[in-house]
Amino acid sequence: MCGIIGYIGAKEASQILIDGLEKLEYRGYDSAGVAILNEGKIEVRKFKGRLSVLEENIKEKPVKGSMGIGHTRWATHGEPSDVNSHPHKSNDNKIAVVHNGIIENYMEIKEELQKLGYSFISETDTEVISHLLDHYYNGDILDTVKKVINKIDGAYALGIIHADNPDMLIAVKKDSPLIVGIGEDENFIASDIPAVLKYTRKVYILESGEMAIVKKDSISLMKTDGTPITKDIYDVTWDIEAAEKGGYEHFMLKEIYEQPKAIKDTLLPRVSNNGEVKLDSINLSKEYIKGTKRIYIVACGTAYHAGLLGKDMIEKYAKIPVIVDVASEFRYSEPFIDQNTLVIVVSQSGETADTLAALRLSKEKGARVLAITNVVGSSISRESDDVLYTWAGPEIAVASTKAYTTQIVALALVALEMAKKKNSITDEEINMIIKSLKKLPSRLEEVLSNVESIKDTAERIYSSQSIFYIGRGIDYDVSREGSLKLKEISYIHSEAIAAGELKHGTLALIEEGTPVIALVTQDKLYDKMLSNIKEVKARGAYVVAIAKEGNIEIEKSADRVIFIPKTIDEVSSVLSIVPLQLLSYYVAYKRGCDIDKPKNLAKSVTVE
Ligand code: AGP
Ligand code: GLU
Repeated sequence: MCGIIGYIGAKEASQILIDGLEKLEYRGYDSAGVAILNEGKIEVRKFKGRLSVLEENIKEKPVKGSMGIGHTRWATHGEPSDVNSHPHKSNDNKIAVVHNGIIENYMEIKEELQKLGYSFISETDTEVISHLLDHYYNGDILDTVKKVINKIDGAYALGIIHADNPDMLIAVKKDSPLIVGIGEDENFIASDIPAVLKYTRKVYILESGEMAIVKKDSISLMKTDGTPITKDIYDVTWDIEAAEKGGYEHFMLKEIYEQPKAIKDTLLPRVSNNGEVKLDSINLSKEYIKGTKRIYIVACGTAYHAGLLGKDMIEKYAKIPVIVDVASEFRYSEPFIDQNTLVIVVSQSGETADTLAALRLSKEKGARVLAITNVVGSSISRESDDVLYTWAGPEIAVASTKAYTTQIVALALVALEMAKKKNSITDEEINMIIKSLKKLPSRLEEVLSNVESIKDTAERIYSSQSIFYIGRGIDYDVSREGSLKLKEISYIHSEAIAAGELKHGTLALIEEGTPVIALVTQDKLYDKMLSNIKEVKARGAYVVAIAKEGNIEIEKSADRVIFIPKTIDEVSSVLSIVPLQLLSYYVAYKRGCDIDKPKNLAKSVTVE
């Protein structure tokens, strides 16, 4: 999500900031801006759109000054616009802040500050920081920053400049990435190493809870409580291309590994400590939910697969019938829509042409439309009645990974919100489901650390002609996504079959050595799946099972078992998909495919 750059030295800052932002463009952004301090005054230039808009503006009307901060924004709070772009200033223009991440408690802070007379000009969460800094400032900037840090919750990397402290940049990090670049008579801060590589190969990598006071000729590192720390200098030996992917060889792999954080960002701001769901951004009243007779979930590709899981959860928790349809079919069908129908459209990009057409058709027919999307200000978010954002950060690889798992989490939240309003399940049940959701990020970390057996499996199956996926219930839904992932990046023919359907046709295709990936994570369907595994084994299949830890007797039936941590059946999809994503990745890798840009496919499908 977004990029931060900061410079302090003797050169003109503007060009260095723009250069740095260019190197961070790969992270995805919708607007860009800089704040430069010159002769005691901060000048801000910021614009929606490509970096070139900012660059042109500065070319026409240069900004002087040899220290400043810059930002490429990837909107989470407030649409992409000039006003919402960073940097954000204090009302007296003395402080400027750039922020990467989300301030979870910004609403309450904003209200407090408004009562104190602060006026807000943007819709961002970030703006609370510049006003808080102003509010606490007592002549000691370090002490002020400490107070602000104590006040804010969430994820953030911050770059701060203050006109009364013209000799320093302040960098603060919690969760979102931030580094300090060490130059000669000049220093830098940045979200990622490529932004400073042109000037230095020596950097400090900040950890969560750390900050830096960066001056032209010195860098002081400390914990955010002020305790000084020392750090090893990291000598960058790799090239820019690798660094942009954060050291990962492909964006897809990077995005797979970003899933624990993406889920935290999507989930945590929406659940309170006492287990309540708070979907502030959507306005589905008790009366409306009670009157909703039918729900459609409409989407394409991976987002459609997330929708299938949404159906399972909404029907189970909220007891409202759900029809899931692919948007290209839905848009030419005769859907049963009236004012008691809710249509949920799901789209990572928010720009998919078929999904947008389905949204428009639904509105025309009188439905209320709720969008689940990852891109603030996208066409789908603008045209829907309500929007629930997945805060997965930009997804660059064509194969969707972190968008899918965050869509499942968002749909779980919608299902719980509806169930609560309809009283269709008890508070204890809601609490228990939220607890399981909250544990997903750490359980995902476990899955991600167990990659060796997945690599071995890829080695065993990568030259196959055809690979089948089988499962029942939720496992069948996940199989469909696993199979799509494999075919789109490895070009191996693949199909997902509801395990009980095998004997009605597909069994004819199973031969000696045909790989069958069997998902076996649903307790109530465990025995049925064991029988299906036996069925394909009897025809010579090579079976790789994905099962929950503890179900060891499956090792007797399958050729290989990849275990995932235990969780409740309803949210197991978020864990069971991850080995399948990794398997697709390593199979495609072994086959030498262009993983991030598979042939014939595009990231955002804006044509019919
Ligand atoms: C997923 O790996 C695909 N590349 C594709 O199916 C994608 O999910 C689909 O095109 C929908 O895109 P959207 O979520 O941006 O609407
Ligand atoms: N939450 C902030 C905003 O919406 C920062 C987003 C980012 O990381 O770019 O402005």
